Amino acid sequence: MRIGVFDSGAGGLSVVKSLLERQLFEEIIYYGDTARVPYGTKDKNTIVRYSLEALEFFNNFDIDLLITACNTVSAYALREMREVSSYDIVGVIEPGIRAVENKLDDKNAEILITGTRATIASGRYQNELGERGYRNLTALQTGLFVPLVEEGIFDGPILEETMHYYFKDIHNPAAIILGCTHFPIISTAIKDYFNSKPLMIHSGEAIVEYLAEHHGITSQCEQSDLKIFASDNVDGLRKIAKEWLSTL
Ligand code: DGL
Repeated sequence: MRIGVFDSGAGGLSVVKSLLERQLFEEIIYYGDTARVPYGTKDKNTIVRYSLEALEFFNNFDIDLLITACNTVSAYALREMREVSSYDIVGVIEPGIRAVENKLDDKNAEILITGTRATIASGRYQNELGERGYRNLTALQTGLFVPLVEEGIFDGPILEETMHYYFKDIHNPAAIILGCTHFPIISTAIKDYFNSKPLMIHSGEAIVEYLAEHHGITSQCEQSDLKIFASDNVDGLRKIAKEWLSTL
């Protein structure tokens, strides 16, 4: 299968990493809209417009499936994207919710939901988890992590200070939803910040489980070919990909 993976920038590489680990697809076409990242600070109409424009990039390839590896786009634009495309489009929020259900039986467990301003404001994670009976939810906009990851800052004092800024009043969450695909790239730093060493819910791992459960995609291929494209500074994105994916 040839699939497309779309994110506003580098974050979707965290999903690609999970796909490559499982060798689910022969060909992965990655597109990061680096000219316009971040999406998470924009309004709904802008997010929808950017997402529809990004879809046009994939017209150059005959893809079988598109993974929208961006929570912000998944929160706002999936319906509009599906209306104009001939292939299946899978987002990351539904898989994330399924992953919580699969991994966390205790409905009173403290769950910290992190994400961009737009994703948190959409209330998608809060509402869906609330409907499933999870009662102890804290939602936090942590958008400054996005430019840090785009800059290739995965550890060190700036990240530590940013985590302190966001997390100083959060104590011992049982689980953290990395509700932005940029965040798994700094997942170890976030987990280590908390003494409780919370369970980390990651869109990439969640989507692998979801593709098996809902699309019957489990079979492995011998090799996966990854091609990376971007709307700006493709070399910068490829550099981050090399660094991040080389830990495979
Ligand atoms: N990686 C994206 C997400 O999952 C968003 C980053 C951004 O463009 O703000 O929400």
